[in-house]
Amino acid sequence: GLAADALRTGYHFQPPMHWINDPNGVMYYKGVYHLFYQYNPKAAVWGNIVWAHAVSTDLVNWVMLEPAIYPTAPFDVNGCWSGSATVLPDGRPAIMYTGIDGDGRQVQNVAYPKDLSDPYLREWVKPDYNPVIPPGSGVNATAFRDPTTAWLGPDGLWRLVVGTKDNHRGLAVLYRSRDFQSWAPAEGGPLHHGDTGMWECPDFYPVGDGAQTKHVLKVSLDLTRFEYYTFGSYDHANDTYVPDAALADGERGLRYDYGNFYASKTFLDTANKPRRVLWGWANESDSTADDVRKGWAGVQAIPRKLWLAPDGKQLMQWPVAEVESLRGNHVNITDRLVEAGSYFEVQGLMIPAQADVEVSFAVVGGLDKAEPFDPAWRGADAQTVCAARGADAEGGVGPFGLWVLASDQLKERTAVFFRVFNDDGKHVVLMCNDPSRSSYADHLYKPTFAGFIDVDLAKTGGKIPLRTLIDHSMVESFGGHGKMSILSRVYPTQAVGDKARLYVFNNGETDVKVTHLNAYDMRSAKISTEIDR
Ligand code: FRU
Repeated sequence: GLAADALRTGYHFQPPMHWINDPNGVMYYKGVYHLFYQYNPKAAVWGNIVWAHAVSTDLVNWVMLEPAIYPTAPFDVNGCWSGSATVLPDGRPAIMYTGIDGDGRQVQNVAYPKDLSDPYLREWVKPDYNPVIPPGSGVNATAFRDPTTAWLGPDGLWRLVVGTKDNHRGLAVLYRSRDFQSWAPAEGGPLHHGDTGMWECPDFYPVGDGAQTKHVLKVSLDLTRFEYYTFGSYDHANDTYVPDAALADGERGLRYDYGNFYASKTFLDTANKPRRVLWGWANESDSTADDVRKGWAGVQAIPRKLWLAPDGKQLMQWPVAEVESLRGNHVNITDRLVEAGSYFEVQGLMIPAQADVEVSFAVVGGLDKAEPFDPAWRGADAQTVCAARGADAEGGVGPFGLWVLASDQLKERTAVFFRVFNDDGKHVVLMCNDPSRSSYADHLYKPTFAGFIDVDLAKTGGKIPLRTLIDHSMVESFGGHGKMSILSRVYPTQAVGDKARLYVFNNGETDVKVTHLNAYDMRSAKISTEIDR
């Protein structure tokens, strides 16, 4: 079996035990960050869902509180599912969440803090007039959930979006209210829809500034278990959203993360700058029996700052700077050649299973040897390409990158790497996470995750940066300064704790150079319960 404790994360958010899924209602109130999340208080499998609650002053160290919202009333007796917080203009927070009622219907409820002078907002009150948004006629009552944070229009009405489906169509349905109590669907119809299946956990928010402001619509696709987004223009007066022409909905669209990252939610962090911060859930990819044995399942990804790329083509993400406060012992490498077909170990970390690694690669041997991009792959997703050409398939330019959570004989290792193809004279850069050798344990789900990263190596002088957060069973990577992220869950049996190792490898025919590598041991985040404080 898997070593439960050796696989728990040191600085990614996890409660002491049991099942977690979606982050909910994230917000900043009176100097305190609030993270709520879907939680089973009884077991390491999904069920009995409540809103667990944790607070922090830095998004890194947490105090675990009692669950904030749990079944108490006919409108949520069968579960308190995902939702969002809105800080009203008078400073009062409101939570909107999906309740599962006595008939198994999904309804939207509102809750308010009992005591606004408590910065921890421990107790929440659900008014008797709930539900405030029942499924109307023609709405599929078993697929109607996950209300967004609300926003105020120029007419003084609140708006929010609820995810639903209509046969194979995913819909973001828009509701309006004057008082947060009485809500009506917008006459103009849904804000947006796509031929994709159910839209879970929608999120809708502005990015960019001044002339460059765009609105982002993100949805979580139940069918693929990935999250996709478009951005475009939102007309506040008419409540119409038109994605930019180049962007597709659903599977051909842009993703937040090309790995195990789901049901995410952003919030506007008014304490800092302000910035927009993204939280997302990383599910386990071991078996349910493993989870039951471990006694825990589910982790939150590192909170990520999110912004619109300067070229306006995509969103960018980067771990919030506060994470760096956990950096300890530091290893630095400068200008080290990694010849074709070679590798080396990065020595000097005390616990390579709990580390933050920033590395910049440069292809120094030119791009001439880039392997041809098979025309059969055109239109296929990167994951298919990486499954065909993984870390162990020798290439022309690449694969080069990191082997993380590696055992001493390299029998266990997870590869995070780049690989360059030549598609009729145009270079295509693949970023990939290959866990096929990550563990001796069997019965594990080991999907290869990958994306095509928008980097023009001819322009960057062959340079491409990578940052990987390694945390026992988490490998969370950011390529191209935040252009691509890939989160993967792995379960090494030998490469655990101080026995894990870190390597740089180049399995291509072209030399590359590590221009800079900065690796840090990461201290564990402080997670306390109120009682230990
Ligand atoms: C997404 C989701 C949501 C739902 C919640 C239930 O992971 O299925 O749509 O509200 O989880 O826990």
